Amino acid sequence: MLKIFKLILYTTATLLVFNTLAQKQLVINPGEKWADMDGNHIQAHGGGVIKIGKTYYWYGEQRSKEFDIDTVHHYVSCYASKDLINWKFKGNAIKLARPDTALEGKHWVLERPKVYYNKKTKKYVMYMHIDGVVKGKRYGFASVGVAISNKPEGPFKYLNAFRPLGKESRDIGQFIDDDGSAYLIFESRPSKGFYIAKLSDDFLTVEKEVSFIQAPLEGGAIVHYKGLYYVIGSALTSWAPNPNKVATATSLAGPWSTFSDIAPPETNTYSSQSTMLLKVEGKKQTTVLYMGDRWKPSAQWDSRYLWMPVEIQEGKVWIPKPKPWHINVKTGEVRYIEQINK
Ligand code: DGJ
Repeated sequence: MLKIFKLILYTTATLLVFNTLAQKQLVINPGEKWADMDGNHIQAHGGGVIKIGKTYYWYGEQRSKEFDIDTVHHYVSCYASKDLINWKFKGNAIKLARPDTALEGKHWVLERPKVYYNKKTKKYVMYMHIDGVVKGKRYGFASVGVAISNKPEGPFKYLNAFRPLGKESRDIGQFIDDDGSAYLIFESRPSKGFYIAKLSDDFLTVEKEVSFIQAPLEGGAIVHYKGLYYVIGSALTSWAPNPNKVATATSLAGPWSTFSDIAPPETNTYSSQSTMLLKVEGKKQTTVLYMGDRWKPSAQWDSRYLWMPVEIQEGKVWIPKPKPWHINVKTGEVRYIEQINK
């Protein structure tokens, strides 16, 4: 009996070890299917990553088949990782059905969720682009929704929706400066440009305009690197990729430089659209990662992620030709597959 018990224990332990080994990924393969630690394609589109302690959290649009065909309910997914490569699905952080009575009909849109952690209130605050038909006009709601949680994985409690600074708002991006101050980037169609706006102390509202950039760009993202602010964005071509651009300024308030390409323009940003620039500050170096989406409008559940470390210096951001890479989050160092195989 004891022998059988030992055998079962040994087999289970071996299976567990093998399972863990099988699921452990060594590299990020830009544009390829990216499985989470349960083997499912990661569903965190138009997303954002924050670091809490030693853990990274990735939030995004939950578009797996079962959810994406349902345009009445929308979900924001949450994944956790210690190494930015292997992600554990923590569940859907919020599940919403028509969040505002101003939205006409049952169908509405939840896009580009971003989560901030407020050290003072110890709350997690989620912003999301909420849209739908208002007064018969598509994308007529043009607002942000705000939700709050005590824990990173949720559940988030929906609070309200509003137009930041009273302006129409579509794609949103998130920026947290080195001093911890938090900003929302939002594209506003009537103004033909996008705003960088400071959040209130509790992060629950958008307090003040810091900069308006007169450029019709969405998918806005910012990084503060070696004394310069770099802002990137994509042209307004719906789900189709285009050459994303970068501008810089020594202050968030500007003045901003003219925009230049972040990848060979003929590649349309390697068929992707910006969602975030993530700064990984390691002991040896600071690496900036471009996070982009490769949308597949006819099958969004199969949309891919194009994450690449960028070359960044003196006002230029450049995405090298995508290839598999590894990052050591402790040192900040990046290695490519040919270097790993050496
Ligand atoms: C491009 C935006 O960046 C996406 O988030 C989404 O709103 C699509 N347009 C919709 O066409």
